[in-house]
Amino acid sequence: RTVYVNGQYLPETEATVSIFDRGFLMADGVYEVTSVLDGKLIDFDGHAIRLSRSLNELEMKNPISKADLLEVHRELVRLNEIEEGLVYLQITRGSDGDRDFAYPAPETEPTIVLFTQNKPGLADNPAARKGAKVISIEDIRWGRRDIKTVQLLYPSMGKMMAKKAGCDDAWMVQDGYVTEGTSNNAYIVKGNKIITRALGNEILHGITRAAVLRFAREAQMEIEERNFTIDEAKEADEAFTTSASAFVMPVVEIDGVALGDGTPGRVAPRLREIYLDEMR
Ligand code: PDD
Repeated sequence: RTVYVNGQYLPETEATVSIFDRGFLMADGVYEVTSVLDGKLIDFDGHAIRLSRSLNELEMKNPISKADLLEVHRELVRLNEIEEGLVYLQITRGSDGDRDFAYPAPETEPTIVLFTQNKPGLADNPAARKGAKVISIEDIRWGRRDIKTVQLLYPSMGKMMAKKAGCDDAWMVQDGYVTEGTSNNAYIVKGNKIITRALGNEILHGITRAAVLRFAREAQMEIEERNFTIDEAKEADEAFTTSASAFVMPVVEIDGVALGDGTPGRVAPRLREIYLDEMR
């Protein structure tokens, strides 16, 4: 692969970052994942806007303009011949060559890294026809989940707990209420109503979430943005998740309880189709 690091396009084996980088030592960094379909970026604008917000919230300077960032995304997609896949972008606070809890001097340059992931079959994914099985776990992450930081250890642990249980993913639960999946936003469907947690500091403000809710409203579907418990979820007709890497993914089982007849249902597959049709 050709990757991008601090202004240069390099073979992945030649790209390097300092061992003192605060992304490495302190998880002091933010990221974005943008999908690619038919060689084109999906919702780049949404991701660029959220990136600015994450950087602002952490008082980190943005090392690249939106126009240049778009150009780097496009160039990597071109160089790596990505038809379907993902572009990963990470910006960390960089380093001034030592470890310290205090931020380095303001003139310290952030580190910016981008790479592509080739994922043929991302849109026509057999997993989406089958639906995902999830377990529920306690949400013990920090209180600013609206900032897309690279602190992903707990979500990784959740993913492993799900795998050990023979499932695909974990939904995180705080005070009895579902926050979100390890790397996606969570929804349940009751009758014609789509229910999903309202935006706040407890969840990431999904770019796919915003688009899917917009399309659902345009299709006259009813939407309720409110907390729902894991017990309410287990009694729902359907459930699903959204993310840039999996679009709309039906959920067919929660903690061993099948939803409806244990197949993807009516609403989630339709939303997936609408999303893919509208965005590509
Ligand atoms: N994850 N919630 C969490 C905790 C996430 O990590 C993500 C995305 C989402 C969905 O956001 P969006 O629709 O903007 O992708 C919600 C990315 C895909 C990842 O970590 O790979």
